[in-house]
Amino acid sequence: MKRKRVGVLISGRGSNMAALVEATYDAGYPAEVVCVVSNRPDAAGLEFARSRKISTHVIDHKLYSTRESFDAALNDYLQSQNLDLIACAGFMRIMTSVLLEPWEGKMINIHPSLLPLYRGTNTHERALADGVKVHGCSVHYVTAELDGGPVIARAEVPVLPGDTPATLSARVLVEEHKLYPKALAMAVRKLT
Ligand code: GRF
Repeated sequence: MKRKRVGVLISGRGSNMAALVEATYDAGYPAEVVCVVSNRPDAAGLEFARSRKISTHVIDHKLYSTRESFDAALNDYLQSQNLDLIACAGFMRIMTSVLLEPWEGKMINIHPSLLPLYRGTNTHERALADGVKVHGCSVHYVTAELDGGPVIARAEVPVLPGDTPATLSARVLVEEHKLYPKALAMAVRKLT
């Protein structure tokens, strides 16, 4: 079996990217991470990728005057890498059709809520404010609708008495790190 080539987009810590990279060390895993791209030069995740000898690339969004010109530069780089799939992992950018269209059906994202609940930011705060008993995370295809593309897989996490956004997000993050490698493998296996 030829492993599919995956590029990971990050903006910061990169713990989900690291979980994906660790999963690829299993010989039976159907994908390899061939590059990690960040829109922030100081993203901590870049150090991890470098330490694992994975090719890293920075495209600083601050150097582009429009979303479209940034997306075009990012798309050019991604196209040059011969990728089968892109995994967004804490990539904090709203994307335009310049990036979305070429990768339709081939770009996935992890989101810290049980989609379709709590799209967007501050998911843990909003879940706690609503008093939900169950929260979690989802991996979904990226479409023009923010956090609105088809869901690939979800993991539930209980909300416990006394939870704060910090304690809840930490509990969800543990599940994110298990869910993302599984969901990426599912998406890769569906590629033709
Ligand atoms: C995660 O909670 C992810 O679900 C969300 O942003 C966070 C990124 O964390 N999209 P990390 O950079 O993967 O550590």
